[in-house]
Amino acid sequence: MSRRKTLVLATHNTHKQSEMNSILTGLGLTIIGLDKFPEIKDIEETGTTLIENALIKARTIQAITGLPSLADDTGLEVDALNGSPGVYSARYAGENATFEENVTKMLVALKGIPDEKRTARFRTVLAFVDSNSELCENGVIEGKITKKAYGIDGFGYDPIFRPKNYDLTFSEMQSEQKNRISHRAIALGKMKIILETYYKKGEFID
Ligand code: IMP
Repeated sequence: MSRRKTLVLATHNTHKQSEMNSILTGLGLTIIGLDKFPEIKDIEETGTTLIENALIKARTIQAITGLPSLADDTGLEVDALNGSPGVYSARYAGENATFEENVTKMLVALKGIPDEKRTARFRTVLAFVDSNSELCENGVIEGKITKKAYGIDGFGYDPIFRPKNYDLTFSEMQSEQKNRISHRAIALGKMKIILETYYKKGEFID
């Protein structure tokens, strides 16, 4: 394996890996996931912001593998809840909460809140770390939290998040459509441009 052009995605989630891989294609990099490093377990997300968590993951994987790493962290910010659950979105209903438990808790928390006050956004932060540099980007998609769950596809808060200017929740969309407009896709598109320049300049030393 060429060390110079390999990028390790700091995730065990194969769904995320294929989404990230398809957007970053064309960079001339060999992109691998943590499935190639089974000895690496989940990294504890001890930060209090998305950027801290993304950097913790990317720095850890870069330090262990010696290869450039790209990590992401995502949160759902709900205006009526003062921006919560944000960085704690995965653990909103408790430490090992299921997606359904998080969705139910959100619907209960917003009970009685009128449509116009149900505004929210998904925010993804990406961190790229190699032995020379740390680069960060973010992607945001605005939308609203619906009053009940719609659709069966997707994961997380997909059944109750309806992006602005769309009639469907993320769960009701084809995955290709969601992956074209999502917070992660926006962040990855921006990161791709940064990495293109970075690798062209030849500033990297990995
Ligand atoms: P992560 O940082 O990607 O693990 O995201 C943290 C939490 O945000 C997940 O456990 C989900 O609950 C939620 N989340 C992240 N991305 C999405 C998405 O695309 N749709 C719905 N929920 C998401």
